[in-house]
Amino acid sequence: LTSGHGMWTSVGNDTIKTRNLVFADGPHGVRVYENLPGTKGFDEDKKAPSTLFPSAAAMASTFNPELIYEVGKTIAKECNHYNVDVLLGPGVNLKRSPLGGRNFEYYSEDPYLTGVIATNFINGVQSEGVGACIKHFALNEQEDLRRFVSSEADERTIHELYLLPFEMAIKNANPSSIMGSYNKVNGHYACESEYLLKDVLRNQWGYNGLVMSDWGGVQDKVKSIKNGMNLEMPGDSEFTDEVRKAFNNNELTEKELDDSLLPLFDLYDYCEQNPNKGKKANFEDNHAFASKVSEEAIVLLENDGILPLSKGIKIGVIGDFAQNPRINGGGSASLKSYKIDKPIDELNKLFTVEFAQGYNDDQTTDKLLEDVKLLMENNDTILFFTGTTPNLEVEGKDREHMDMPQGHIDVFNVIKTFNKKVIVILSNGSALNISPLLGHSNAIIEAWFLGNANAKPLVDVITGIVNPSGRLSETFPIRIENTPLYGLFPSKEDTVSYVGDIVNTGYRYYDTHKHDVRYPFGYGLSYSDFRYDSISLDKEVLTDGDSLQVTIQVTNTSQFDGYEVVQVYVRDKESYFSRPNKELKGFKKVYIKANETVDVSIELDERSFAVYSSDFKDFRVETGLFDILVGKNVNDILLEETIQFNSSKKLRSNHSIYHTVKYFKIHNKEKFDYVVKKYRDFPWFEIEEPMIRVFRRLQKEFKINNEDFENLLKSFVE
Ligand code: BGC
Repeated sequence: LTSGHGMWTSVGNDTIKTRNLVFADGPHGVRVYENLPGTKGFDEDKKAPSTLFPSAAAMASTFNPELIYEVGKTIAKECNHYNVDVLLGPGVNLKRSPLGGRNFEYYSEDPYLTGVIATNFINGVQSEGVGACIKHFALNEQEDLRRFVSSEADERTIHELYLLPFEMAIKNANPSSIMGSYNKVNGHYACESEYLLKDVLRNQWGYNGLVMSDWGGVQDKVKSIKNGMNLEMPGDSEFTDEVRKAFNNNELTEKELDDSLLPLFDLYDYCEQNPNKGKKANFEDNHAFASKVSEEAIVLLENDGILPLSKGIKIGVIGDFAQNPRINGGGSASLKSYKIDKPIDELNKLFTVEFAQGYNDDQTTDKLLEDVKLLMENNDTILFFTGTTPNLEVEGKDREHMDMPQGHIDVFNVIKTFNKKVIVILSNGSALNISPLLGHSNAIIEAWFLGNANAKPLVDVITGIVNPSGRLSETFPIRIENTPLYGLFPSKEDTVSYVGDIVNTGYRYYDTHKHDVRYPFGYGLSYSDFRYDSISLDKEVLTDGDSLQVTIQVTNTSQFDGYEVVQVYVRDKESYFSRPNKELKGFKKVYIKANETVDVSIELDERSFAVYSSDFKDFRVETGLFDILVGKNVNDILLEETIQFNSSKKLRSNHSIYHTVKYFKIHNKEKFDYVVKKYRDFPWFEIEEPMIRVFRRLQKEFKINNEDFENLLKSFVE
């Protein structure tokens, strides 16, 4: 029972009333294999069709939690159709570098956005009675060496960044299960880490659900059971004898084993209560809904006014992706699509289209380039489809660069010599270096991996039937050399250091260090123009337990109805701790009609101002001033106000005599003055030393006997 049965189920046992619970990936749709339970591998012929939604990076770019709730719900309906009990998703690891091989499968570089989107996704899945399995717990941000590398991080970094999405989802959505990651955290495998599984997950957060391992993530089964891992996946386990031996030796007690199995029985009860199991899904409806999600995920990056394009004109379409769209990244997220729409078919319905393939995968040829030239001569308006090719974004390996494929650049180099109107459509799961396109394109559309329903929404954005409303869920840096972990990511060593990520990851880095980026976090254009009229706060001074209501008046000054994404960032103006220049703490997507004015209300709770205190193992607010910054993206702040937060909570333990003299001087001034008065003043070069060393020298110099010295010390440390 402590391990699975075959690739996709748990062990069933009539005597103790459990059955083969069925697990299926996740997270962009359900990947179903027939012939369950006990199947051994990935039999591609045995896959059943389902709806592929936009990939996680695209889902987060909708900035629309309610929509993502519906995505979760719809995927769960397909789980019920196929009798799947638990969906292996969402993935909530963060993006430390654009080179993360699995970035397409993760929501964002920002933990708050990730946490909000994940919470809604899980609530949607579980509203249909299907369990969600949030993954990969934790600090699994790099794919290279993912089974061995140890992510080394301090507690603040762990809690404020990498655990936050898990914590938010566990507290606000209570996922039925959580998947331990392959990597180590501070030297211990995540699937057997006492710190992660016991101290944080069970004790700090009070989580009672099931913890399963990533597939093949258990290294020491006995240790993993003792520390709170409940189910090793997949089966059948190589460790059964080991566990039996440990049990017989009393190294693993009956109580430990029983405790470890309880969550599995709870999960069984949960799955048995699902009233919708076996209910048929309507795949056509789901496909239509996936189209709505794609509409909101597309991000308009550049537009000199060429978009929206008038229907009926003659256009030249270049690029194989127009007929073979990129719909998903590779690995466990892939599935058998119910159906795949093609941009070229949708374009043919509305325009007179001439098509040139341009490239095949990442290569071009003289013949393909000749075709491009011919097409360029005949057409004034060009749509160029480009992005990353399948082997560039895939689970299990990180990217080596963030450039467009050379074959695509070669095609664009031909296109740009003609000086025609060019609209570029990008299909990629994570940031891309688009500098070869700049200066030679009139519009650029980030279409991500949009899944099955990728075509109509894209063409609707191009023609203005849909007003683009996606916002970047990650920064697009100018070039890889500008990214904070350049040369360090992925780590080729046994360890990967997360130290400094508090101010050095994603927009936190570019914003704090004032580095230019290609497109900032939260950025995206619309066909509408929005004016931010005013900001008002319901309080100027906050204290413990308070929340702050921020109300922003926004006007759509254009003739286009459209969505705006209002974003609220918080800046801690003075802090003992290192803090980034600003952090996203709230957002709202609102539909505003042409020439209409609306009030947008966003609530910031106490946590929005807090830091993680490792001394008290808790999030606490440091008394002081905080800026409330409202804008269209992290670099475009349009309104701001300042509040005072008076917190009664301590963030640090008292300084001890072992602390540096400088802090002792500030925080224990009375005792410090006593030493100065009794013995002597401290020269400047001594005040950074721990007080104890200074005292020892004084002991020698003034020949203080040991007893007096000990008494003196006691009076300071008590
Ligand atoms: C992936 C998981 C996935 C599992 C089962 C692993 O390699 O890391 O995300 O759920 O396989 O396919």
